[in-house]
Amino acid sequence: MPPRKIIIDTDPGQDDAVAILLALASPQEIEVLGITAVAGNVPLALTQKNARIVCELAGAPQTPVYAGCEAPLRRPLVTAEHVHGKTGLDGPVLPDPKMPLAPGHAVDFIIDTLRAEPAGTVTLCPLGPLTNIATALAKAPDIAPRIREIVLMGGAYFQVGNITPTAEFNIYVDPHAAAAVFASGAPITVMPLDVTHKALVTAPRVEAFRALGTHPGRMVAEWTDFFERFDKEKYGSPGAPLHDPCVIAYLIRPELFSGRFINVEIETTSELTMGMTVADWWGVTDRPANATFMGDLDADGFFALLTERIARL
Ligand code: BDR
Ligand code: CA
Repeated sequence: MPPRKIIIDTDPGQDDAVAILLALASPQEIEVLGITAVAGNVPLALTQKNARIVCELAGAPQTPVYAGCEAPLRRPLVTAEHVHGKTGLDGPVLPDPKMPLAPGHAVDFIIDTLRAEPAGTVTLCPLGPLTNIATALAKAPDIAPRIREIVLMGGAYFQVGNITPTAEFNIYVDPHAAAAVFASGAPITVMPLDVTHKALVTAPRVEAFRALGTHPGRMVAEWTDFFERFDKEKYGSPGAPLHDPCVIAYLIRPELFSGRFINVEIETTSELTMGMTVADWWGVTDRPANATFMGDLDADGFFALLTERIARL
């Protein structure tokens, strides 16, 4: 089978960075057509730069990286330096990228790529707020039926929320964009906190990355050392969740994940519950199913895959 063509839409972020490394380390299964940066964990000027730093770390400076939307559709940007640090990639010090940004806007790259490639062949992998994707869908509604699948990290049902009591960060930052994406009719697969909170980087798993003895292996370990302090303190867990790599792992080994095809709607009117993913996990409404909402993963299988692939870089 030829590798699956993807666009990674991202706001790196240490866990976004690991997801990008996983994709670039897996050319047999995945062809990264481009990376589109969006404002999220930190402002756009940093996320687009971080995406280029990560491509160079992976030895893939030829990967086109586009800058996208600077702010959510209707709300002011909320960032997460308290988790990811001032640069978004705090932890190890990495050199500024030499590779340039690709010319043009990320939204136009998404539209042009979906129009140029055969219908049903391009998968979108959003790892941050959905602003770029929703803007592309609004500007070019003809692209929706051409999308093979949108596999995104965002939302929560059983875990409810992380940035507010009822909302997960990526959805909360741009709930109007998320609502538009979930209403787009494109096939959607969701990696919510319910799954990613089971992808915990425990001490032996961090040591496995460090023990690879490679530069990328050490960087993954050091990023984890940095951002896990926040989640360990918050949740009292033995490690931090590695959210975004779940999206890429699903493309390579979907059997590691299980979930339900259900209705998912996004709250956009209540300030109290803004950005909540209202997931009909128990099928108590007759609202039509619009997304495969994952609920579980094989964590050991996931980390075995991740470690094996990072070792290839
Ligand atoms: C999501 O928010 C960001 O902080 C992470 O990169 C991940 O995409 C988890 O809620
Ligand atoms: Ca992210």
